[in-house]
Amino acid sequence: MSMGRVGFTLVVATCFACLDGREAPDEAACVPTPTHFCSRVHEPGLQDPESPDFHGKVVRAQVYDVENCRSCHGDDLRGGASGSSCQSCHETGVFDCATCHPQLLEQGAHRAHVQGGQLGLRYDCDTCHLTPKTVFSPGHFQKGGVLDPAPVEVVLAAIATSSGAPAASFDRATGTCQNVVCHGVADAAASLQPLSWTARPEPNCGRCHGDPPASHTSDRCQDCHPRVANAEGLTDPARHLDGQIDLGDGSGTCNACHVETGAHHEVHASAVRRLRGPIGCVECHLYPTEIEAPGHLDSLPPGEVFPRGFGGLAEARGAQPNYADGRCANTYCHGPGSDLSLTDGPEVVYCGSCHGVPPIDVDHQAEWTIRECQRCHSASVDDYGNPRFDESGRSRHLDGIVDP
Ligand code: HEC
Ligand code: HEC
Ligand code: HEC
Ligand code: HEC
Ligand code: HEC
Ligand code: HEC
Ligand code: HEC
Ligand code: HEC
Ligand code: HEC
Ligand code: HEC
Repeated sequence: MSMGRVGFTLVVATCFACLDGREAPDEAACVPTPTHFCSRVHEPGLQDPESPDFHGKVVRAQVYDVENCRSCHGDDLRGGASGSSCQSCHETGVFDCATCHPQLLEQGAHRAHVQGGQLGLRYDCDTCHLTPKTVFSPGHFQKGGVLDPAPVEVVLAAIATSSGAPAASFDRATGTCQNVVCHGVADAAASLQPLSWTARPEPNCGRCHGDPPASHTSDRCQDCHPRVANAEGLTDPARHLDGQIDLGDGSGTCNACHVETGAHHEVHASAVRRLRGPIGCVECHLYPTEIEAPGHLDSLPPGEVFPRGFGGLAEARGAQPNYADGRCANTYCHGPGSDLSLTDGPEVVYCGSCHGVPPIDVDHQAEWTIRECQRCHSASVDDYGNPRFDESGRSRHLDGIVDP
């Protein structure tokens, strides 16, 4: 071992010449004191991590009590009388976490959880296991003065467990985590099963739940979870992985996901022409009573109009309406053979556009005027041919029943 680096004047050639100038018969006689060093203070393996004399192992063996080192390396371990500072290598201090837990972030999935990965979420160390506040916190590396050996006691915090589900846990034998709510409920379409602590999965959205989940028919997250994700990825990470499924705008109403803004919707819903009361969604669509009702979300957009047999007014009395490419054909309301475009203006609807005034058939005579309809259809129209409304705003005109 070289003596060249000792920061004080007396550098001697042999082990048996003590640093205070005394000669000693052998090294043992050079009893080290803070100011008296012998060249064999340390064993040759001091800096060799493979050697049993490696200083790290020496310190570990004394349960990290460095009092004896301080006598020469200084109370602050910055060199002291020895002039040899621990900080020259341990730049952030001997008792920095990294000294004994080097490369922790590279170990298992620490980096993703602690620093935040694709999802931008960070967790405290305590989320997964007891973590000492300081190096010398009780229970850290010693128990009753003896070194507490590895491994870590992994105890997942309550936030890792879904309410009502079995507790989340870590199985050291397989290196996997079970029932961790953050990683999603069982979904056959999820790629990350089982959940290994050391595997490095591809950072894609289909790990914890499918993209989309197996229960879904559409992968356009933005249609139904617009506040959480769009085609590019997460729109608001704070709403993701918070234990809640966010639907639409969060209002909890049907309009959470769709606002019916089409002009055809408005004109039917408002019924400004006073031909009948407002026309509800059920008259043109299979109308879901709850979000997950059959026929609602189980097909890809666009939404279905006039699905066969849906039972709305558009198919009253055997009509077979059809909607395609912005055109409605053969609806009950507009009459057999009707073919209207969503872009048609109000001028396409008038008395006589859906049926004749009067209809040309055995029950009617062509010369009758609109004022005469009430003679036989007085429940539906008044003396001037205006459809009648009851106090609740319902009409018998255009209600699916011919009222003579
Ligand atoms: C009796 C005084 C003394 C004591 C006690 C002592 N050392 Fe040292 N140590 C020295 C001296 C002097 C040097 C420089 C010698 C050299 O470079 O060979 C040194 C060097 C070192 C080095 C090498 C530094 C470098 O830059 O290469 C390490 C590591 C070290 N000591 C660790 C320890 C540890 C750990 C303890 C406590 C377990 C300890 N020492 C106790 C005197 C002491
Ligand atoms: C010449 C560089 C150097 C000097 C100086 C040095 N160390 Fe180290 N020390 C290391 C290296 C390298 C490791 C191994 C780190 C690793 O495993 O990645 C280490 C590891 C340690 C460990 C970790 C033990 C464990 O259980 O993992 C302790 C404690 C330690 N040194 C204490 C000291 C003390 C106290 C001093 C000063 C008296 C000192 N070191 C000076 C290089 C040095
Ligand atoms: C001087 C060495 C040393 C330093 C510095 C150190 N630790 Fe440790 N730590 C250990 C040893 C030894 C163990 C027990 C063996 C194991 O679990 O690997 C341990 C265990 C742990 C554990 C597991 C606890 C458990 O329940 O088993 C955590 C977490 C931990 N340390 C965090 C830290 C943090 C945070 C820091 C910095 C504030 C730190 N350590 C600094 C040596 C050290
Ligand atoms: C998402 C959960 C999780 C978080 C967050 C987490 N850890 Fe760990 N940590 C683990 C697991 C799991 C292991 C055990 C790996 C094993 O035993 O195979 C572990 C092991 C460790 C060990 C022992 C390493 C070893 O080599 O023995 C230390 C030290 C540690 N963690 C420190 C930390 C610190 C410090 C933080 C915060 C900065 C942290 N952990 C955050 C899950 C976590
Ligand atoms: C057509 C509407 C719709 C689309 C599009 C949609 N979701 Fe959903 N999603 C829902 C509904 C409804 C639920 C059930 C809500 C509840 O149970 O409270 C749900 C639930 C979920 C759940 C909880 C687990 C489950 O299977 O119920 C996840 C995870 C999820 N969606 C992810 C996605 C992702 C990722 C996408 C895009 C790839 C997506 N969803 C696209 C409507 C949709
Ligand atoms: C670490 C596991 C994990 C990963 C990776 C993940 N998710 Fe999720 N995701 C969940 C869990 C768990 C839920 C269940 C609902 C909740 O807690 O928010 C969820 C729910 C969703 C939902 C349903 C709406 C809601 O309110 O949560 C959407 C949309 C979604 N994720 C999109 C994505 C996208 C996009 C990505 C990729 C950027 C992604 N997820 C990656 C775990 C994950
Ligand atoms: C008079 C018939 C009619 C009524 C009444 C009606 N719709 Fe529609 N709806 C249509 C037609 C036609 C389309 C297709 C044209 C379009 O997408 O603008 C459509 C499309 C839709 C779509 C799909 C939009 C898309 O982009 O996929 C939804 C959702 C919808 N309607 C909901 C409703 C709701 C809710 C109501 C009641 C408030 C309603 N509709 C009332 C005829 C109607
Ligand atoms: C989670 C978002 C979401 C919510 C909440 C929602 N819808 Fe829808 N709705 C959609 C999507 C997406 C479509 C188009 C899907 C398709 O093509 O079947 C749709 C389609 C429709 C259609 C067109 C017919 C069809 O099934 O395609 C109607 C009508 C409709 N929804 C009514 C409702 C009603 C009523 C509610 C409240 C009970 C409701 N929606 C709640 C997303 C939602
Ligand atoms: C003299 C009595 C009488 C008068 C006046 C009359 N209708 Fe009718 N209307 C009938 C009868 C009878 C039916 C067939 C009822 C049935 O099928 O149950 C009928 C049916 C209808 C139908 C249903 C057509 C169909 O194909 O099923 C319409 C539309 C109608 N009338 C419009 C009018 C209009 C408009 C006027 C005024 C210009 C008018 N009617 C005047 C007797 C009359
Ligand atoms: C949008 C198409 C449409 C327009 C416009 C329309 N009707 Fe009708 N009308 C119908 C249909 C469909 C019936 C068949 C009976 C039913 O469903 O109530 C009907 C039936 C009638 C009847 C028979 C009585 C009844 O209610 O069954 C009379 C009378 C009538 N219409 C008069 C009028 C008059 C007057 C106007 C103009 C103010 C008018 N209609 C405009 C569609 C229309």
